[in-house]
Amino acid sequence: MKGLILSGGAGTRLRPITHTSAKQLVPIANKPILFYGIEAMARAGIREIGIIVGSTREEIKSAVGDGSQFGVKVTYIPQDEPLGLAHCVLIADKFLGDDDFIMYLGDNMLEQGLEEFVTDFESARASKNENDKPSAQILLCHVEDPRHFGVAEVDKNGHVVRLVEKPKDPPSDLALVGVYLFDKTINKAVRSIKPSARGELEITDAIQWLVDNKLSVRHKVLQGWWIDTGKKDPLLECNRLVLDAMTPRMDGTVDAASQIQGRVTIEKGAKISNSRIRGPVVIGPDAIVEDSYIGPYTSLGKNCRVIKSEMEHSVVLDGSSIVGVSKLTDSLIGRDVEVIRSIQQPRALRLMLGDDSKVELE
Ligand code: G1P
Repeated sequence: MKGLILSGGAGTRLRPITHTSAKQLVPIANKPILFYGIEAMARAGIREIGIIVGSTREEIKSAVGDGSQFGVKVTYIPQDEPLGLAHCVLIADKFLGDDDFIMYLGDNMLEQGLEEFVTDFESARASKNENDKPSAQILLCHVEDPRHFGVAEVDKNGHVVRLVEKPKDPPSDLALVGVYLFDKTINKAVRSIKPSARGELEITDAIQWLVDNKLSVRHKVLQGWWIDTGKKDPLLECNRLVLDAMTPRMDGTVDAASQIQGRVTIEKGAKISNSRIRGPVVIGPDAIVEDSYIGPYTSLGKNCRVIKSEMEHSVVLDGSSIVGVSKLTDSLIGRDVEVIRSIQQPRALRLMLGDDSKVELE
């Protein structure tokens, strides 16, 4: 079985944090979201992975390389325009050939691994009875507001009977998780559907095509949490969930005047002095924390500096400095950003913010 990961595909996948610094892969607990997907596939025994890349292709290529760091072989498939998830399958046809494959939306994060999902499909596909062989297997999750997702309707007998993309009036609370298993029939489906109202070839419509053509679409209901990090505000929540499961590690240096409480990972080269760190927290390589308090659910990236500050429940990307800031919380800070208390007169708020930024003042 092959793997297909959509990173830049559809234009909306794996959004950079700000458009002014569009070069990053968004990290959760200091690891790019995309890596979690690749690692989950590798653990499920997938060795050949195609990655659909859009406008951030160079950054993704330099971070992922040939895949050997994950024990897989990566093939890059460029998508020039964000024409939809089903369009990604269409342009991956050479890579996929006639093989079964698992498709993973690169901004989805799942607590549960993919192993069981993959083995279930493989054993169902190995059935001797042709009519029992599924053409697809989808993963569903009960959600509070299904209107933001693809939604599935499952009948009393457990059969998927209908799928709709972002319905105003959802037929159920079962959202389509961004992990799908397909056999080669999906190639025909993606060529048979028309673009949706948002101008995209929807994978949801392609799966509906399979249902309409009396092909079997199995489903599983997800256990554990699922976050579509491409949606609004989920990043801090996801960071919290990942930090909760983290195994602490101490590779940096902490002076005698500092206190480390709870589960804290301090990476190589990081220096903590006269500070209190209350986990779960991860402090990236070569970061400096001085005369500060870092509270629960904070991820500091590589080379960050936190001086004379107090912060918690925040994600700070590589190279940023926080100096003299007394209460920083619920914040997402991009790369090479400076948040500093100014002594310059007149006393005022001085900002340089990128696209899509948001500042909440006291
Ligand atoms: C896409 C799919 C949707 C699915 C969601 C999961 O939505 O179209 O069916 O529920 O991913 O992450 P998008 O993120 O493109 O709006």
